[in-house]
Amino acid sequence: MSIATESRIIRPARNIMGSLRLPGDKSISHRYAMLGGFAQGTSRFSNFSTGADCASTLRCMEALGAKVKKLEAGVVEVTGVGGRATPPDEPLDCGNSGSTMRMIAGLLAAQHGSFTLIGDDSLSRRPMERIRRPLEDMGARIALTEGHAPVHIEGSELRPIDFTTPIASAQVKTCILLAGLQTAGTTTVHEAVRTRDHSELALRAFGAKLTRTLDSVSITGAQTLTAIDAAVPGDLSSAAFFMCAAALFPGSGLVVDALGLNPTRATLLDVLTALGAHISVLQLEEKHAELVGTVQVAGPAEGLGSTAVTGALAAQLIDELPVLAAIGPYTSGGIRIRDAKELRVKESDRIALVAKNLRAMGAEVIEFEDGLDVPGGQSLHGATIDSGGDHRIAMAFAVAALRADGETLIEGAESAAISFPEFFDLLELVAER
Ligand code: S3P
Repeated sequence: MSIATESRIIRPARNIMGSLRLPGDKSISHRYAMLGGFAQGTSRFSNFSTGADCASTLRCMEALGAKVKKLEAGVVEVTGVGGRATPPDEPLDCGNSGSTMRMIAGLLAAQHGSFTLIGDDSLSRRPMERIRRPLEDMGARIALTEGHAPVHIEGSELRPIDFTTPIASAQVKTCILLAGLQTAGTTTVHEAVRTRDHSELALRAFGAKLTRTLDSVSITGAQTLTAIDAAVPGDLSSAAFFMCAAALFPGSGLVVDALGLNPTRATLLDVLTALGAHISVLQLEEKHAELVGTVQVAGPAEGLGSTAVTGALAAQLIDELPVLAAIGPYTSGGIRIRDAKELRVKESDRIALVAKNLRAMGAEVIEFEDGLDVPGGQSLHGATIDSGGDHRIAMAFAVAALRADGETLIEGAESAAISFPEFFDLLELVAER
């Protein structure tokens, strides 16, 4: 089978100026689709993610018996299976989406019947042992191939566990919580680094009770979920590309409204501020416990300074690290990233690809097993970028290209559609030339 790939030329820009409203957050859309598909009744989600990953989740939930209706732009109606999924005849195709595979595995481990989860080449290379072990501790029967997909699940009644996640992963945490939701007794997940808490907030929005401490979350089964009507906040990880682009240009002005600003996701705002960018947050409100607001970004007249992202920060910023590294050469003091080994097992080896593409653009960069040192004060030239079919690499280097000398060709640009199909059009809208 041949897969169509598409290249995009990005020309340097003079400035970034404009106002944007972005499609719904990918993490929240996945969770709303899963919980809505599992709940009792019909949920209605507006501003649902337009990315291919969330479409994979919707398709899986449909294959499990949920009814999915796409209404006018961005509105999705999901009628849930009322807690009982129907085992499909075909494998469930999770496409490129690690969130879909890892989180649905938790939902299905406690259901009756056999289920198989498959994914594309990239997803089939990603580690799944991290969900097999805790689910098996709960009594689930899971088979992998050398630690990878396909994931075969023989659903059964589970027992609760008290689990400490060895890696900071919201997907693993969610997997266990979704199994715990259907398991008599109390299941607890402890995490040393607090990861994004959209699952906890979404489970509560659908009527489940959870208890939280500073470093743990507990859920008692068996609880039923009830459908909700919700607007999905704009995706902060998508906004990150535009915020970093704006930060690069003195005198820029970018406004993003209705943006998700959940504190477990909004660390980028602090990092950009530490780099010297001017950031203000306006009109903050809460929707289904998720914070939503308007963010204004302006690049500093004196240019960006320097920063280090290490420890817990690395886990909190994990999806934004490629774009932060990609703008590193344009800072005065550089960007240092450590404790981010997880980047090596994302949709691609993001440490290797960021280093390779920065070098292609003429930058000096030092690669570490768990991060990168990107020295500042460098100028880049246009080059051919290998996105590796990874959406965040394609978009990160489109941002780096805005300040480069000459044109940049992004190969595999179609991968942006995994999370953000509108990216290149919106970039043209705000880039002044
Ligand atoms: C996500 C969690 C993160 C993140 C991914 C989305 C989620 O992955 O990188 O893009 O929605 O829970 P890990 O849980 O593997 O860190």
